[in-house]
Amino acid sequence: MTSQRGVFVTGTDTGIGKTLVSAILCRAWNATYWKPLQTGLADEDGDTPTVRDLAGLAPLRVIPPAYAFQAPLAPLAAGDLENVTVNPGRLVLPQVQQSLVVEGAGGLMVPVREDMMIVDLIEGLGLPVVLVTRSGLGTINHTLLSLEALRRRGIPVLGVVPVGPPNPGNEQDIARFGRTRILFRIPPLEVVTETVVSEFAGNIPLLDVLQQQISQ
Ligand SMILES: Nc1ncnc2c1ncn2[C@@H]1O[C@H](COP(=O)(O)OP(=O)(O)OP(=O)(O)O)[C@@H](O)[C@H]1O
Ligand SMILES: [Mg+2]
Repeated sequence: MTSQRGVFVTGTDTGIGKTLVSAILCRAWNATYWKPLQTGLADEDGDTPTVRDLAGLAPLRVIPPAYAFQAPLAPLAAGDLENVTVNPGRLVLPQVQQSLVVEGAGGLMVPVREDMMIVDLIEGLGLPVVLVTRSGLGTINHTLLSLEALRRRGIPVLGVVPVGPPNPGNEQDIARFGRTRILFRIPPLEVVTETVVSEFAGNIPLLDVLQQQISQ
């Protein structure tokens, strides 16, 4: 286990709101952000500058990705196109004074190497997980499957963050059948800005408090 405090932000899918949630958590905890595996740079600037801007992070609060690939594919496939194999030795948790918010790529069962999925990376890093999910129809299945994969490996789950139109029934079922808690929720937003991120960040409990709640 690592001594570095922090969380790993993963999700039930890609494009689901992990980066927005990461920005909110960075802002709330004055944390340092790290996206170890970035893909898709052919089409976009990547999540690191987005979080830096949304959370208003100073340059030192952002650690560059260990790997940055052009193709909008899973890391294994995107790396293959550049003849690069991910070296697990470079996926070691940076040691920083602040809490660390680490964002995954896609969901849990996303190939990083022939012998490594994102869920294996999480297990190795030893951070508890924040699971970002869709709020609507289909989410109970995706969320419970993700929770089961995490629990099988003994990875602690701080809680779930549904994104989209509020759906109390789905939240209840996720909490009940997934034996977890809804940390907070994000409704559809007209704009995603630093101001909005800062408003959400104001209502997030301290990481220590969340950690104590799951260890009770
Ligand atoms: N609640 C919301 N309301 C409106 N737009 C949102 C909301 N949540 C996220 N978005 C937008 O949806 C897009 C995808 O969100 P985000 O980048 O956070 O997803 P992701 O899970 O990090 O994706 P990736 O797997 O590529 O890292 C972004 O443009 C983001 O601003
Ligand atoms: Mg992202």
